[in-house]
Amino acid sequence: MDKLIIEGGQPLYGSIAISGAKNAALPLMASTLLAPGWHTLHNVPDLRDTRTMLTLLEILGARWERNGPTLRINTDQMTGVEAPYELVKTMRASVLVLGPLLSRCGFARVSLPGGCAIGARPINYHLLGFEKLGVSTQLEQGYVEARVQEGGMRGSTVYFDLPSVTGTENLLMASVVARGETIIKNAAREPEVGNLIDMLIAMGADIAGKGTDLLIVRGVECLHAGEATIIPDRIETGTYMIAVAAAGGMVTLTNCNPEDVPALADKLALCGVDIRNSSNSITVSCPEDQGESRCRLRSTDITTLPFPGFPTDLQAQFMALMVQGDSTSIIHETIFENRFMHVPELKRMGADIAIEGSRAIVRGVGRDVLNGAPVMATDLRASASLVIAGLAATGRTEVSRIYHLERGYEDMAGKLQRLGARVNVIRA
Ligand code: EPZ
Repeated sequence: MDKLIIEGGQPLYGSIAISGAKNAALPLMASTLLAPGWHTLHNVPDLRDTRTMLTLLEILGARWERNGPTLRINTDQMTGVEAPYELVKTMRASVLVLGPLLSRCGFARVSLPGGCAIGARPINYHLLGFEKLGVSTQLEQGYVEARVQEGGMRGSTVYFDLPSVTGTENLLMASVVARGETIIKNAAREPEVGNLIDMLIAMGADIAGKGTDLLIVRGVECLHAGEATIIPDRIETGTYMIAVAAAGGMVTLTNCNPEDVPALADKLALCGVDIRNSSNSITVSCPEDQGESRCRLRSTDITTLPFPGFPTDLQAQFMALMVQGDSTSIIHETIFENRFMHVPELKRMGADIAIEGSRAIVRGVGRDVLNGAPVMATDLRASASLVIAGLAATGRTEVSRIYHLERGYEDMAGKLQRLGARVNVIRA
């Protein structure tokens, strides 16, 4: 089993470039199913999940060619409408092919994604939205079968109980060629949704309301191949910002968008971390302080919320920081029901954390108390949390099951090495 070996206690110095966003690349890649021709996507990260999406698109008939960060995808030949269980169980974002397949082919058969480490992850909002557009859905042996009814899809008003990110993205891709106007209320406002809207408009779609929770889609006759640039990964950006705060030092993150991490930047400033922005870079520093190797951290509370609130995808990483705080931090996870899998592993490194329902009570143990240990990754962001703790800890940390990490972070070991961290990947 592949492991990441970290010799902790080393502050981080230097500059690294942020990659394209995983959670933008996946919907934009799926959107190429909407129209034939050669689509072009720039700044596409090379990740386990983007490779899985390419495999899925191939199963559906697509051809592709990659030239560094530029990916070209051709979907002239649609040879399938099914996303198989073997693939969907490895990446639940495969459900994002539902919307485009309904628009392009009128039918889709996609394995229910099933739960994952962080929660049940239902897709009922997606299916309810499709039904409002004139799609019949049924569950057959663990697969969702969705079929456009006689007369084709027609615009309607769709309301999300919770602003589902992939739910919003699926409904956008299903409504772009539906007859008439579709209004999506309580839509997700994450930047990745805006990036998808850019791509759909480049393909000829008519969408208003980008960046708001009210999206208006006017159906068009047909779409054509599009071109777009994947936005910088705000979760990767936040992960490295937190890593510097935890390990100490000073790092500049380039090719990123400071406006996409508003809540985290505010919280890190409250902790006492220094953050300076340019239009496309962020410099984070946590300098030596009164003889300590890193600046003192003021314990700070967070509550995870839909964008622009504090992202649930940075909760585990922030917790790894707060275990070094100067008092107590309350971390309230409101999005997923089981997103504290990193807690037992952090406690093995010396953290003092108690869980009470959806809240984690993190009693800061100050700097230089965490000790390296063998730990196991359980999901993508929990893995990042353990890496951050390992960087801050004294001694050696071995993070196993790092395939979780490789799903969403491009060359993390290489980027950390360039910042002076003592990390190595051991391939089993
Ligand atoms: C997206 O997942 C992201 N994944 C997740 O990132 C992220 O954590 C999540 O949004 C929240 O920001 C991608 O974009 C590929 P939701 P998604 O639908 O769309 C409930 C990562 O680490 N819900 O916004 O699946 C759901 O259970 C991943 O990169 C329903 O009840 O999340 C959750 O409580 C992890 N029914 C809440 O809504 C539905 O039909 C938000 O989920 C859909 C969602």
